[in-house]
Amino acid sequence: SSHYAVFGHPVAHSLSPQIHATFARQAGIDLRYEAIDATLDTFFDALEAFAAAGGQGANVTLPLKESAFALSATTTERARRAGAVNTLARMGDQWHGDNTDGPGLVRDLTERRGLDLRQRRTLMIGAGGAARGIAPSLLDAGIGELYIVNRTPERADALVDTLGQPGRVHARYLADLPALGDFGLLINATSAARGGQLPRLPMSLLGPRSAAVDLSYGEAAIPFLAWARAAGALEAVDGLGMLVEQAAESFALWHGVRPQTDAVYEDLHARHA
Ligand code: ATR
Repeated sequence: SSHYAVFGHPVAHSLSPQIHATFARQAGIDLRYEAIDATLDTFFDALEAFAAAGGQGANVTLPLKESAFALSATTTERARRAGAVNTLARMGDQWHGDNTDGPGLVRDLTERRGLDLRQRRTLMIGAGGAARGIAPSLLDAGIGELYIVNRTPERADALVDTLGQPGRVHARYLADLPALGDFGLLINATSAARGGQLPRLPMSLLGPRSAAVDLSYGEAAIPFLAWARAAGALEAVDGLGMLVEQAAESFALWHGVRPQTDAVYEDLHARHA
């Protein structure tokens, strides 16, 4: 049977093993997919051991995506634009790195939620790994102007520079938010809720046609999405659909079959929303 894994820290509660097992059953593929806890210090050795034991592919989650990018011998253009890898495929004796997070988010928003992203004026809070992973895909999907704010403003500036579209992508300070008007798409790409507190956001960011998205799911997504509903957002979307869609994209890369995601999503949604 073929051998896959997700690496991260913490990783014990990752839904990826369950998602990939379901996809494999659907596709009739005999697959072993495990969760392997690895820190920045242990990741390289753990991945080598995994490859030596016949590991053919891996997903990579926090806080290892930048490391996975650095150790990939070859990468896709979308991984290079994100500077991060969430999907590794063994090619000979090397790792090939891709990033399916952004495509997964866009597919969830456009196909599952039926949102038209084109020309949506967009605000992204956060400029860390998660933000870097999705920004290029959002731009490719045709959003309008993209504003990026971050607690540490230098990181927002750096991300804006990396994205390389100065007329379209702008860094702003958190203190500027009340003056920015409203946005068709507001994305919380911070890890703030995992630490319990959210930056204070003015309700003027959202209007009656706005969609608000938190890249996390379950308990971590509750504070931001509750705030977004209170602020009048039309849609308040958590990251569970993105998780399923990025997994489907990785599965397709590894196995050449694109899984059907609706049943898996509905099942997880019933248990983790
Ligand atoms: P991830 O891969 O989840 O993006 P990360 O690269 O550590 O993880 O980035 C975390 C993001 O959440 C950053 O944008 C971070 O802001 P800083 O760059 O200022 O650290 C943001 N973040 C985390 N905790 C936060 C908090 N309590 N308030 C505001 N922003 C926070």
